[in-house]
Amino acid sequence: MLHISRKEHFNAAHKLYNPQWSKEKNVEVFGPCANENWHGHNFDLIVTVKGKPDPDTGFVVDLKKLSTLIRAEVIEKLDHKNLNTDVDFMHGKLASCENLVVEIWKILDAKLPGITSFGKLHCIRLYETPRNYVEYFGE
Ligand code: NI
Repeated sequence: MLHISRKEHFNAAHKLYNPQWSKEKNVEVFGPCANENWHGHNFDLIVTVKGKPDPDTGFVVDLKKLSTLIRAEVIEKLDHKNLNTDVDFMHGKLASCENLVVEIWKILDAKLPGITSFGKLHCIRLYETPRNYVEYFGE
């Protein structure tokens, strides 16, 4: 079993804000991340596919095709966007990295069979900062 990864990048704005709570409670829990007028991050997204190589190509997945897929299905929808207001698959959800990776997983897991019959989605890793990242393995 091999693991093969592609890194992509996007910039986006968000705020962490639970509309069920008062402004004070949001500030207490989320601190400056609850700032009404948004803040931004330079996100790195790492998508890992696992599988055995296709004997015809030696590839688990063609990384060029994986990059094109991630860009078309995910990066286009997130880059230079506001995660709270501009992104259809985040509507009604708190704009946390945790919620974001789960939605990215759903999108890519459904589309991956279109570009490889040897690889399966293994992990979505999202860096919000160089020191903070979230990983999701589909469960
Ligand atoms: Ni933030």
